[in-house]
Amino acid sequence: MKKITVSALVAALFVLFQACSEKIETDLTKTAFIPKPVSIAATGTAFEIKKSTVIYVQEGSEQLLHTAGILAAEIGKVTGQTRVQTVSEAPSKGIYLAIQENDDLGKEGYELNIGKKLITITGTNAAGCFYGVQTLLQTLPVNTSLEEPLYLATGTVRDYPEYGYRGAMLDVARHFFTLEEVKQYIDFLAMYKMNALHLHLSDDQGWRIEIKSWPKLTEIGAQTEVGGGEGGFYTQEQYKELVQYAADRQIMIVPEIDMPGHTNAALASYAELNCDGKARDLYTGTEVGFSTLCTDKEVTYEFIDDVLRELAALTPGEYIHIGGDESHVTAHDDYVYFVNRVQKIVEKYGKKVIGWDEIANAELVDDATVQFWADVKNTTMGVEKGAKVLMSPAARAYLDMQYDSTSQYGLHWAGYIEVDHGYNWDPATLVEGVTKENIIGIEAPLWSETVSNIDEAEYLVFPRLPGYAEIGWTAPAQRNWDEYKTRLAKHGKRFEALGIDYYKSALVPWEE
Ligand code: ACM
Repeated sequence: MKKITVSALVAALFVLFQACSEKIETDLTKTAFIPKPVSIAATGTAFEIKKSTVIYVQEGSEQLLHTAGILAAEIGKVTGQTRVQTVSEAPSKGIYLAIQENDDLGKEGYELNIGKKLITITGTNAAGCFYGVQTLLQTLPVNTSLEEPLYLATGTVRDYPEYGYRGAMLDVARHFFTLEEVKQYIDFLAMYKMNALHLHLSDDQGWRIEIKSWPKLTEIGAQTEVGGGEGGFYTQEQYKELVQYAADRQIMIVPEIDMPGHTNAALASYAELNCDGKARDLYTGTEVGFSTLCTDKEVTYEFIDDVLRELAALTPGEYIHIGGDESHVTAHDDYVYFVNRVQKIVEKYGKKVIGWDEIANAELVDDATVQFWADVKNTTMGVEKGAKVLMSPAARAYLDMQYDSTSQYGLHWAGYIEVDHGYNWDPATLVEGVTKENIIGIEAPLWSETVSNIDEAEYLVFPRLPGYAEIGWTAPAQRNWDEYKTRLAKHGKRFEALGIDYYKSALVPWEE
């Protein structure tokens, strides 16, 4: 028998220790957070997640309980099941969610503290807490189970957003997306701390929201989509379900009724909305700019009043989007008269107006927001009239633009948007005359001429969406593409674990 010397034994134990400790990541600063937080300080140890780990919630907030439920569902995927319990005082171990005012962190900020025994997430409001939870979830390894001990690196993340509006749009009019598909889209936004989902609910090809006082909008106007498919619509009950699903994830729904152009579906449903009194045929093509509501008929405004009254009653968010883009067959003066009147209707129902940048040609009501997509002159005119700006430059932020000439889906009328080009810009310096004080935030629109379901949409949405989320959340001085792409690369495995069909851009060093 061979003699084992003490020094050989020590060496062997040392190797074994190294092998074990290599598995435990104790440096929190190595986590690939998207969006990049304001600050991360590592403390060099680890918190062990166990089957018995409990999520404690400060009593008194329904929203915190919802957030804890979402966290428990995610951690439960690893542990089998994770318990949630409300408490009146901070516990000494486990995971603890609480709301705590903190002027340094602003309205939606949070602090995530991962200690050896206790993880604390304190948000300045419920939204902040939800974002802290999203940050914590990004520290969990992908595809883990408790067959091996699971450790999270310790330290503190302090964080708050650059902009208050961080959104994406989904065009459910060109192609209809089911309730489940919209919920999936909401989940994508929530993972990256986005807080607004703009739903483009009507266009030439389809009307997608039940309006009880004008039932033919959905009986007729919802019955098709681009390419001639069967279309669809949300009942008011279903829409409310979406609003709630989004609210549980701290996301506001911004509903859009596009007008006076992009209205063929309404014009096909009700003859009287046409100047010639004749109903239009349903439309399943992709041309734009051929339709208009009749701006000098009173019935048009009765119609809009009813639609916006019902929509406002279903929508707790502060905005109603009135479209206003590409009204190429509405005379300029008629367009201005129309937008002036419609804005007043939005105000009457207690909501703020958003419209595409063309609405700046009208007199803008107080608190109007102009969504910059194409025209710099319109946008700066809006600012001069006192409007706020939502930044959605088509050449940078349109999710339906192709990556390059080989892209499977998408269009390229505003150019190709590779992942770096989509990321590498600053909303506050893109347009001369539009500065940070004018801007409420950023929104990445997904138009659906070329995608008919969520699987197809995923190819355009990922991997660009996390970049738009980071532009909205992280200060420009903290962002640069070369560093961002290494963090994005680590999210590829997350996309795969979620079954997301993403575009594997050659510009990103994806991990094998
Ligand atoms: C738009 O892309 N027509 C706003």
